[in-house]
Amino acid sequence: MSKIQENQETNVGGMTSTAPTVEKREKKQQKKVNNVIEVNDLNLWYGSDQALYEVSMNVPEEQVTAIIGPSGCGKSTFLKTLNRMVEMVPIVKTSGSIKYRNEEIFSSKFKQEYLRTKVGMVFQKPNPFPKSVYDNVAYGPRVHGIKKKEVLDQIVEKSLKDAAIWDELKDRLNENAYGLSGGQQQRVCIARALAVEPDVILMDEPTSALDPISTAKVEELVRELKKKYSIIIVTHNMQQAARISDKTAFFLNGELIEFAETDNLFQNPQDKRTEDYITGRFG
Ligand SMILES: Nc1ncnc2c1ncn2[C@@H]1O[C@H](COP(=O)(O)OP(=O)(O)O)[C@@H](O)[C@H]1O
Ligand SMILES: [Mg+2]
Repeated sequence: MSKIQENQETNVGGMTSTAPTVEKREKKQQKKVNNVIEVNDLNLWYGSDQALYEVSMNVPEEQVTAIIGPSGCGKSTFLKTLNRMVEMVPIVKTSGSIKYRNEEIFSSKFKQEYLRTKVGMVFQKPNPFPKSVYDNVAYGPRVHGIKKKEVLDQIVEKSLKDAAIWDELKDRLNENAYGLSGGQQQRVCIARALAVEPDVILMDEPTSALDPISTAKVEELVRELKKKYSIIIVTHNMQQAARISDKTAFFLNGELIEFAETDNLFQNPQDKRTEDYITGRFG
């Protein structure tokens, strides 16, 4: 059966049902997961230095996929390849295939603006614009041509609610985002990413600059967001990966060494190198 046929079948199976809760839950467990992104034989070079080698992996829909591995192993490069942001570095060359919902993103027919809208990104260091909270969140919708105040108001409120920061900031919408705490800034950046209605959210070590309380808030938010979005999160913190992700990918020297259900990867790694890494023998 082709991938497309499989996906269609799953969509039919996933339609609303009036079955009792237990049955529903069982159905959900049985439901075959769709892939939102499919990567095949991806190679990437910065000039003559190869940074990714033959990476193939499928990113499941509405789950949290964690990427772990030692510094310099290609985690950020891989993440930025998924929305082609990595190509802003002029010397970058790639080969292989990345499909977003069955469409080849490297194809000249695939619109880059559409890709960046659908596959949004949140960075390690919160990077709000030096503007008000409101203008930060309204930025993307305005770029997309939305001008009506009522519509923008609604988007700002919904995005801040989805980013679990509306209650904290609803009376401070006109304040400059620079004046917020790091944890608040990061959630405003998440709201800014949500405001353009993405499908996939890429997060590159989004809590590494945050204190433990803000980290816990962002982790809780990630678990909440996966009900509506597919999330790929790079983390150098293995406990974090274990806490929040459904699947985990372990990278080493530009190669994907192992990709499995998070519990399996941590409790029963199949590759000696994964085992060495998660038991702290290197990295
Ligand atoms: N802009 C760049 N130009 C050249 N090499 C780069 C660039 N960005 C990253 N690299 C190289 O690619 C490799 C992977 O880096 P990176 O993706 O940042 O790893 P990680 O996020 O896992 O720490 C490293 O060897 C790094 O030096
Ligand atoms: Mg990195």
